[in-house]
Amino acid sequence: MYEKPRYHFILISQEINNPYWKLVLKGAEDAARNNNVAIEFRGPVESNLEQHIQLIEMAIASRVDGILTQGLEEAKFQPVIDKAIARGIPVITVDTDARTSKRLTYIGTNNYQAGYQAGKHMAEALHGQAKIGIITGSFEASNMIERLQGFQDAIRDEPGMQIVAIESSNISRIRAMEKTATLLNHHPEINALFGASALDGMAMAQVAFNRGRHDLYILAFDGLPETIDWMKKGVIAATVVQEPYQMGYHSVEQLIDAIQGKRLQPSYYTDIHILTADQLNRRGVGAKE
Ligand code: BGC
Repeated sequence: MYEKPRYHFILISQEINNPYWKLVLKGAEDAARNNNVAIEFRGPVESNLEQHIQLIEMAIASRVDGILTQGLEEAKFQPVIDKAIARGIPVITVDTDARTSKRLTYIGTNNYQAGYQAGKHMAEALHGQAKIGIITGSFEASNMIERLQGFQDAIRDEPGMQIVAIESSNISRIRAMEKTATLLNHHPEINALFGASALDGMAMAQVAFNRGRHDLYILAFDGLPETIDWMKKGVIAATVVQEPYQMGYHSVEQLIDAIQGKRLQPSYYTDIHILTADQLNRRGVGAKE
């Protein structure tokens, strides 16, 4: 028999068709189904802060029971998140925090730590010697700023590890390919690349592969299938794996808990780990191919 959903939640992400966000959505949908909650998924077609904020405004106006959103740029997201809270609509930040806002909690990666681990891993893998090109998903989003900060701090005491240039992909795969080409054309000394958001590493791999640049060390972010494929081919050396499904699942559960009056911790960090191509190939993942 059809049972009316208890609550209507909305998940608003930076980009609606991004495969990383499909995994967050899958987790949120599974938790919603298990708890008889309706979940709606919204986001700009291409990452755009203003449109994202407008979607939060619309969710407030339509009086949803709870909002899950990234808190992309602190100064711009804090007022709209606080407005929702003031109207009695619970908000949880997912994947990217807006720490200064009144959001009930944050669920996602400790992005500074993730960037730090990435930097340490690269320094170790390359014995402290690298000329590095970086592509970040955004110069404004707090998770990207924190990842870069962590990465820079991790290599601060390594005189041989040098960041040559940083470009932004606006989390677009095509833009990431263009920016990789720019980096490699303008800085022929670059021998290592770090892609800080989910589609950057695979775009770097595509460009490196097309150019026959087997000498490049590529460190990616996230474990999306295409990234894993490039690792099996030996083009991407390692990736920082996040838990997008868990982020989606737990954020729905925490929203329900919040509505039911349970106290939440200030933040819940989901796991991260570094997966290397060597580990993948040793484990024989995809050995069928
Ligand atoms: C980040 C997300 C971002 C996505 C873009 C992930 O690594 O955690 O914030 O939206 O990359 O593809």
